[in-house]
Amino acid sequence: MRIAKRAEHENTRQSPFMADLLDGRLKAEAFAALSRQLWFIYRELEDAAESLANHHLVGPLLDPALLRVPALERDLAHLDGPHWAQGLVPLPATRRYCARVREVARAWPAGYAAHHYTRYMGDLAGGQIVRVLAAKTWGHTHEGALFYHFDIRNPSAYRRRYRATLDALPMSEDETHRVAREVTHVFHLNNMLFHDLAELHAPTEPSNGAGTSPTRTGSS
Ligand code: HEM
Repeated sequence: MRIAKRAEHENTRQSPFMADLLDGRLKAEAFAALSRQLWFIYRELEDAAESLANHHLVGPLLDPALLRVPALERDLAHLDGPHWAQGLVPLPATRRYCARVREVARAWPAGYAAHHYTRYMGDLAGGQIVRVLAAKTWGHTHEGALFYHFDIRNPSAYRRRYRATLDALPMSEDETHRVAREVTHVFHLNNMLFHDLAELHAPTEPSNGAGTSPTRTGSS
C-alpha cells in the first residue's frame, strides 16, 4: 500500500498550514499548537492500540518504538511548562478525528490499521523533514520536538518492513479496498485539522497573534 504519491498526500503537504510550516513561516506558537492537538489524537490512537493489541489485524503493526504520547508529553512540558495540560482543548477537527479513531477501534479493527499506518508511517517519512525544520526554525533540537525523534535506526527500512507486515495481514480484497478508502479519510481528517490550525495561526507577520494561544483556555 504505497500511498505517498497519492493526491491526498499532496493536498496534505500543500495545505496552507503545512506549506507555511515547511517554509519556516510559522511561529513557534503554531508549531506548539500542532503538538497540542496531536496529543489528543495520539492518546486516542495509543489507548485504542492497547485494547486491540491481541487483534490479528492490529497486533502485528504495534511496536513500543512507535509510541508518541510519552514524547508529546515531554514536548508539551518543555513548550508550555509543567501545567501544560491545564485548559488544553481539542479543536473541532481534532474532536472529529478522535471520534473516528474511537469508532474504528471499537467496531472495525482493520479500519484502525489504516489510521495507524497513515500517521505513524507519515511520521517516519515526512515527519523526519519536520524534525530537521523544528531544529532549524525554532531551535527544538531535542525537547520540544521529541515527537519527531524515533528510536529507530533506519526509518526507511522500518517503513518497508511495516508495509510488508501490513500487506501480509489476512484481509479480503474487498476489505483491503475499504482500508485504502479509510487511509484517504485519515488524510482528510488531517487536512481538516490543518485547516482549523491555519485559521488560528497565520504565517509570521510582526505581532500577528503574539501572546494569544487559541488552543488553550485560561492561563497557566
Ligand atoms: C510536512 C509535510 C509532509 C511532508 C514534507 C511529507 C513528505 C513525505 C515523504 C518525502 C514521504 C516518502 C515518500 C517515499 O518514500 O517515496 C512521505 C510518505 C508518507 N507520508 Fe508524508 N509528508 C508530509 C505530511 C504527511 C502527513 C501529515 C501525513 C499523515 C496524515 C503523511 C503521511 C505519509 C504516509 C502514510 C507516507 C507513506 C509511508 C510509507 O508507506 O512508507 N505525510 N511523506
